[in-house]
Amino acid sequence: MSRPAKAIVDLAAVRHNYQLAQKLTPNAQALGVVKANAYGHGSVAVAKTLEPLAPVLAVACIEEAVELRQAGIVKPILLLEGAFEAEEIITARDQNFWLMASGIEQVEMIAKANLDETQGSALTVWLKADTGMHRLGLTGEQVKESYAKLKALPYVADDIVIATHFAAADELDSDFTSQQIDCFASLTEGLNTPVSLANSAGILAWPQAHGNYTRPGIMLYGSSPFPEPQVNADQLKPVMTLESEVIAVRTIEAGETVGYGRSWTAQRRSTIATVAIGYGDGYPRQMPNGTPVFINGQRAELAGRVSMDMITVDVTDIGTVNVGDNVELWGHNIPLNEVASCVGTISYELVTRMPLRTPRLYINET
Ligand SMILES: Cc1ncc(COP(=O)(O)O)c(C=O)c1O
Repeated sequence: MSRPAKAIVDLAAVRHNYQLAQKLTPNAQALGVVKANAYGHGSVAVAKTLEPLAPVLAVACIEEAVELRQAGIVKPILLLEGAFEAEEIITARDQNFWLMASGIEQVEMIAKANLDETQGSALTVWLKADTGMHRLGLTGEQVKESYAKLKALPYVADDIVIATHFAAADELDSDFTSQQIDCFASLTEGLNTPVSLANSAGILAWPQAHGNYTRPGIMLYGSSPFPEPQVNADQLKPVMTLESEVIAVRTIEAGETVGYGRSWTAQRRSTIATVAIGYGDGYPRQMPNGTPVFINGQRAELAGRVSMDMITVDVTDIGTVNVGDNVELWGHNIPLNEVASCVGTISYELVTRMPLRTPRLYINET
């Protein structure tokens, strides 16, 4: 028998979540954001699932895009961080990778590339405007200048998309997103060109921001970007189930401790189940005592420090637990967001940190 720790990835749920993004933004084209190994789910498998549905895919950088091309993905792929080196611009044109230009340096790089427009198709460029995130992006003046500069280049495609990124669209009672939307409207005034504003939170909760292209990421993986229930986000289906099995069960007496550092002490006679999953499988070491773990259809609590390959769970109150019983760490029964908040992080980090060691098991491929 092989080690039972695995991440089950439900590709039907990916399709459902993408279709929800489309349904909520019927006048826009939804890109499939598959950067960072599709948020840890496996970029090739997820891209193959999305390719029949999404007009364009999106990754962070050219290495991620090349991996998808080598796997047979043919749809255009937007590089959200654009080109880091001049040679990437030639590859981008040849491979139909779309380039984001988020700073004057990247605009200059494209202008200096001086591609022969008779060789190959036009290069698609997106310009990122800074409307308040203050991380990347051009100022209003730079957007207008860069737009004019790129328009004059014969090898750049006619439709230059102007994009921006939200800093706090997951905060539903903040007016910062409205301010960013207004800022974007004034930045793009008079430029008759496609626009893209919305990430998952923008798609789910900010209809004024739907624009011509949306960029759903985390919602494709079934996780809500909001800390509280939200009517559209509540329709998402979880994609990843992290699961394993019980590999040992023992009884300890009141006062005895469990695991490295003896961080959990039994307050009574207790039954401890040891599960084959640990920080080497993407289950964070910082998970505190009391984090919920789903065993045999019931919630139990993490008891003791997470080891590299194992955790220990207090199963005293959930009836008989045996070696070989199934354990869910997150998925349908324990929401990813709940586990993430136990460890003071967000769902994005838990899934993108899932190591290669943890096998991905794909279900519902078609
Ligand atoms: C530019 C850009 N667009 C879209 C996304 C997708 O965001 P989300 O996963 O919140 O939908 C990201 C993710 O970080 C991003 O950097």
